[in-house]
Amino acid sequence: MIRKFTCAVVSGALLFSIHATAQDNTTQQYLDTLAALGFPAPKENELVHIPPTLDDLEDADLHPELKRVIRRGHDLFTNTQQLRDEHVFNNMNCSSCHLGDGRMPFSAPIWAAAVTLPDFRGKNAHVNNLEERIAGCFTYSMNGKPPEYGSDNMVALSAYHHWLARGVTMYPQQPIYGRGFPPPDRPENLSYARGKAAFVEKCSICHGASGDGLRIDDQTVFPATWGDMSNNWGAGLVRIFTAAGFIKNNMPLGQPRSLDDQEAWDIAYYMSSQERPQDPRYTGDVQETLEQTREAFHKHSMYGQARESDGHILGDHDNLGGKPFLKPDTVRPRTFE
Ligand code: HEC
Ligand code: HEC
Repeated sequence: MIRKFTCAVVSGALLFSIHATAQDNTTQQYLDTLAALGFPAPKENELVHIPPTLDDLEDADLHPELKRVIRRGHDLFTNTQQLRDEHVFNNMNCSSCHLGDGRMPFSAPIWAAAVTLPDFRGKNAHVNNLEERIAGCFTYSMNGKPPEYGSDNMVALSAYHHWLARGVTMYPQQPIYGRGFPPPDRPENLSYARGKAAFVEKCSICHGASGDGLRIDDQTVFPATWGDMSNNWGAGLVRIFTAAGFIKNNMPLGQPRSLDDQEAWDIAYYMSSQERPQDPRYTGDVQETLEQTREAFHKHSMYGQARESDGHILGDHDNLGGKPFLKPDTVRPRTFE
């Protein structure tokens, strides 16, 4: 009896350790691959999570209907253009900025939001849940109108975010490895001229010298980095440090971490000095809008400022890009009263 018990304990421990070793090996391989691409190793206390793939989904023990909805969420995330003129009014897909279908570290991997929300967000000064976070990217990054909370599209997108977070503890105590678009150290001086030259040399082959990108048969091949079909002035990517972090870690496509820090920041500065659709919080006056939004948002953008090259005041217009309204009616303040 005792013997049998010991055996069970030993084999249980063995199984566990085999499992742990397989896991460690996979994590190590994953980190080695990232290191080979030039990404930094995780700090000792950081949480490393490898989001599952759609192949993993096939094998998962989940209700077939849930699998179908998660797949639908993935499809919406990677081909958001199917919601064009209803929820999306520019040429972006969610995956235009969240690379690797939202799974890549240093490309604002989206599962992080699923385990850290609901939480207070300074940007809108109230407690947000995952749906509201997704709605934020629709409003600003997609220059659009978010699907209603609880709608089929919203539930499918949320389900995909949650699936990628499989196995992670809710409200993890550790900082998340590769969360957001961490910027490289800011160099002392930024140069518009250097940024422009580097963009023309290393980026324009895909995005075009005028930042328009490329669209064929209603499909986005290369998204617009500025202009009417890009994100609006309210999006996170208009902050120069966020753009520098995005660029350093993700561009040129297929060559992450190949630019030096100065180049990434110069290009970010150049890109942030180009026009794009109006911020949905626009009051009709760019300086007044800036006063109201500077602290929470525009402290690190070029909104309302004079462009270095020609003195043009950025954001001083009422161009909404492809969108027939300024602020979507789905965006409302919350008070919890
Ligand atoms: C133009 C680029 C862009 C596009 C397109 C975009 N996003 Fe984002 N997204 C961002 C930026 C910038 C952040 C903020 C990252 C940070 O924390 O610095 C972000 C953050 C997020 C987060 C929070 C991640 C976290 O760490 O908490 C989620 C979730 C998200 N986006 C979902 C979406 C969805 C869904 C779509 C499509 C409807 C989308 N995004 C489209 C740029 C974009
Ligand atoms: C080989 C083609 C290619 C090159 C070169 C390239 N990009 Fe991109 N870029 C893409 C694609 C494609 C995406 C969208 C990601 C996806 O769909 O996988 C993208 C996305 C982006 C985005 C986010 C979406 C948007 O349009 O704002 C920015 C910003 C960006 N690239 C900037 C740059 C910069 C800066 C460079 C030069 C350092 C660069 N890219 C070089 C292909 C390229």
